[in-house]
Amino acid sequence: MLFLRAVVLGTIVVSGYGSDRRFPSGFKFGSASSAYQVEGGWNASDKGESVWDRYAHDHPDIVVNGNGDVACDSYHLWKEDIRIAHELGLHFYRFSISWTRIMPTGFPTAISETGKQYYSNLIDGLLEKGIEPVVTLYHWDLPQKLQDLGGWTNPLITDWFSDYARIIFSFYADRVKTWITINEPILICDGAYNMEFTAPRIKEMEMAPFLCNKHTLIAHAKAWRIYDTEYRHKYHGKVSLTNNLVWMEPFTPEYEDLAELALQHCAGRYAHPIFSKEGGWPPLLEKVIAEYSRKQGHVRSRLPPFTKAEKELIRGTYDFFAMNMYTSRLVRPSEPGDGPRIWFVTGSPELNITLVADPRWKVGAVSIMPAYPVGMRRQIAWLRREYGQHLPILITETGYGSLDRNLDDEERIDFISDHLEQILLSIKEDGANIIGFSVWTLMDNFEWMDGYRSRFGLYDVDFKDPMRKRTPRASAHFYSHLIKTQILHKTRVRSHRHEDVRMSKRSSNSSSNFTGLMLLLYTIFLQLFILL
Ligand code: NOJ
Repeated sequence: MLFLRAVVLGTIVVSGYGSDRRFPSGFKFGSASSAYQVEGGWNASDKGESVWDRYAHDHPDIVVNGNGDVACDSYHLWKEDIRIAHELGLHFYRFSISWTRIMPTGFPTAISETGKQYYSNLIDGLLEKGIEPVVTLYHWDLPQKLQDLGGWTNPLITDWFSDYARIIFSFYADRVKTWITINEPILICDGAYNMEFTAPRIKEMEMAPFLCNKHTLIAHAKAWRIYDTEYRHKYHGKVSLTNNLVWMEPFTPEYEDLAELALQHCAGRYAHPIFSKEGGWPPLLEKVIAEYSRKQGHVRSRLPPFTKAEKELIRGTYDFFAMNMYTSRLVRPSEPGDGPRIWFVTGSPELNITLVADPRWKVGAVSIMPAYPVGMRRQIAWLRREYGQHLPILITETGYGSLDRNLDDEERIDFISDHLEQILLSIKEDGANIIGFSVWTLMDNFEWMDGYRSRFGLYDVDFKDPMRKRTPRASAHFYSHLIKTQILHKTRVRSHRHEDVRMSKRSSNSSSNFTGLMLLLYTIFLQLFILL
């Protein structure tokens, strides 16, 4: 009897450990990439020129060591990408479509059959291996021709984008069920015109970021509505846009209101019009920017208002919330002597705030991205307070950049696992509805202005090798084990450099079974000892 009690109790204790760290059934794990960063084949067949082709060719001195002309050569090696995605056991693979590979001029006047076939093959190849394709329509590679016409500052782009979206849906919506319209509009707008971080890198901090902000939201909304009215009834897919979030924490508790304003500037400006019940710009931020614009001598706010019809067009155009998150900031009022306030890295003149990082936060290859995993849980809680407790959230990116080619990338494993720990807490303790998680990135690739210097891949890529050999890092073994077990193990799986991922999955499974058995026996004996 006593023994039976002990066995029951012991089993509860052991399975309790597993259930705390087990992801809910149906939780999906994936990995992500984007067209310009991996494909290469920049002028293959009839592909047109994008802003990144143009910028990287014109500024070899500014973009670190290279351009995306060949990158990982996924244009030719896509079967290899599917092989490694399968080797990892990914539930989904997120990639983007290059607008000019399908529509060389940016307009529907010409469609490239070769481009169309390329993505069709990729989608079919993934599906054959049981991997869900998650497709981003736009990951920063605007047709250069559209840029010449003003790009995202021209209101007509919302129609150009919807023409493109409709064509892509018509080609692939029968097989693709999860769509992201636009990746990180804040990096397209604030990033290109304010931070000078993304092509076309035009320094115009006053009007361009806000015009672009409004137009990306309308473009997204139009694309969502096209899917909703023309495709949803046939294919039952889901569509959203991906926002890049930076958690803003008060430097000291009295700056909570400032931190809230910073969150509205970063997340709210790109999310409130879509996800809030009332729509439109975040009210407090709208007021602050209007006042600042008046002080500058503008007769109207630099943050362009929405008409009633535009507000209604945008409001509610989502099926889930997609978020990328890499970093956080501490927020305090600006003081004399603070350096330049570049939004959203070091601060904002409009809000009169300075942003700093806690020196204890770990910095990888990209200095502007110190990691604060706790920020992820807090950011998720904020999203739910703002946009609804049941909001389904898909984490479309987080990841760690390093400067070396080390295959034993413990730091990356720590980064991923520390963030997943916070995600588990969000799910289990806070009740968040997080539906999946995706690592940036499947393999090392072209990291924008940072070229090939920083490496974010689960797989190392040898850029000197014409075959761009992909080799799994320890983090790939860790991730594949996690996907297989759906449990975030405290003791992480370390494996040898050239070991096959599938091999390590087998061995790590048997070792975790063994550990589980030992824990069970230990608990039983412990309890027997206490009871007797
Ligand atoms: C987010 C972007 O979507 C991706 O393109 C970039 O490489 C990663 N951040 C890392 O910087």
